[in-house]
Amino acid sequence: MSTAKLILDGKEHEFPVVTGSEGEVAVDISKLRERTGAITLDEGYGNTGSCRSAITFIDGEQGILRYRGIPIEELEEARFTEVAYLLIYGRLPNQTELVEWREKLTRHSLLHEDMKKFFEGFPASAHPMAMLSAMVASLSTYYPDTADLDLNIVRLLAKAKTIAAFSYKKSIGQPFMYPLNHLSYTENFVHMMFAVPAEPMHISPVLDRALNLLLILHADHEQNCSTSTVRMVGSSGANLFASVSAGVCALWGPLHGGANQAVIEMLEAIAADGGNYRKYVEMAKDKASGFRLMGFGHRVYKNFDPRSRILKTAADEVLAELGIRDPLLEVAKGLEEIALEDAYFVEKKLYPNVDFYSGILYRAMGIPTNMFTVMFALGRLPGWIAHWREMREQGARINRPRQVYTGPTRTSWVPVERR
Ligand code: CMC
Repeated sequence: MSTAKLILDGKEHEFPVVTGSEGEVAVDISKLRERTGAITLDEGYGNTGSCRSAITFIDGEQGILRYRGIPIEELEEARFTEVAYLLIYGRLPNQTELVEWREKLTRHSLLHEDMKKFFEGFPASAHPMAMLSAMVASLSTYYPDTADLDLNIVRLLAKAKTIAAFSYKKSIGQPFMYPLNHLSYTENFVHMMFAVPAEPMHISPVLDRALNLLLILHADHEQNCSTSTVRMVGSSGANLFASVSAGVCALWGPLHGGANQAVIEMLEAIAADGGNYRKYVEMAKDKASGFRLMGFGHRVYKNFDPRSRILKTAADEVLAELGIRDPLLEVAKGLEEIALEDAYFVEKKLYPNVDFYSGILYRAMGIPTNMFTVMFALGRLPGWIAHWREMREQGARINRPRQVYTGPTRTSWVPVERR
């Protein structure tokens, strides 16, 4: 076994080196404090491996993303439900397992009738991510028994899309549409979002395919902010629904999943401003402006994000098939072209990420901007579940980082009349 040496205050310490199946090298410092009294400092965790995981592999230098070893490009042909099974249970389901899995996901789609009443209490302007997080946490009040994890996994996957569609219906004042058991996972979501009781709805296969692709591309991304949050919360022993609800909140932020909403808002602002791409690229380079190119840059990808490439092609295809001309697609392409040629973006290795083109597709599907991050959450569910399950199986310790304290040293309390 190879080791790494650390010299601290003139004393030498040796630590084991761990190598992953794709050659990732890590220094195991779990005995660092015990042996040296020191801790590591890695703000933002850019160099910290928080766990060992067998779910997703990313090579950010080469732009590689694989779920359980399978390249993301090959999974474009798969269905989201089988990808969910793959991520959670570690292998592709066979024919019988897939039929059973889909059947369960269909049968558990209905919400407890009382849960519908929660939506009455939210204001019409409520952001659907807030509703999604609250409703996912509240599933633990209906299903408090945590003994049957597989059943709760099915419940969560099956009901989250119903919750998401209901939150949209609430925001536009339309009646909730119940799931229909003859429809697939993705068709059911489209139906619950866009159908009305007054007439039957034809579900376009183009929309269904686009939705399936979007969900697959978002299904996992190893230790990102929301997944780490799910693992963090779960490490305390909190149940699956509570842990995933926290993950939804983490995803909401504009530096993470909330970027897809922020991208469209940015593209709209650029279009309204006459399509002056250069001005916005210059603004993004000026730190004092506080502006960043949303949908650009990534902690791990320093080459290109393979998901963004797939989505750019899909955006062209889907818009052409639907006969839609979205001026924002042109703005996005123009902005990308200018940014990719700019020395700042080249030097800092900033490329379009998954959020850059996804919004164009959601728009074409008729999904409103404030639902974009909810779509990301629906896609990411299998990843969150897979990581939560893996962490429990590993018997992980409670996640509890340390800190370098920088506050005042010992001081005294002073009674209020003397302050
Ligand atoms: N526009 C302008 N400058 C940028 C951008 C950007 N979008 N992203 C990074 N930079 C600069 C940043 O200012 C920094 O410069 P310097 O080294 O001079 O201080 C350098 O590039 C490195 O950036 P960082 O913020 O230290 O990188 P990070 O790994 O901490 O953050 C990120 C990654 C994705 C949060 C960041 O690139 C960003 O804010 N991007 C825009 C938001 C976005 O698109 N988020 C979606 C991420 S992908 C999907 C997901 O995870 O949800």
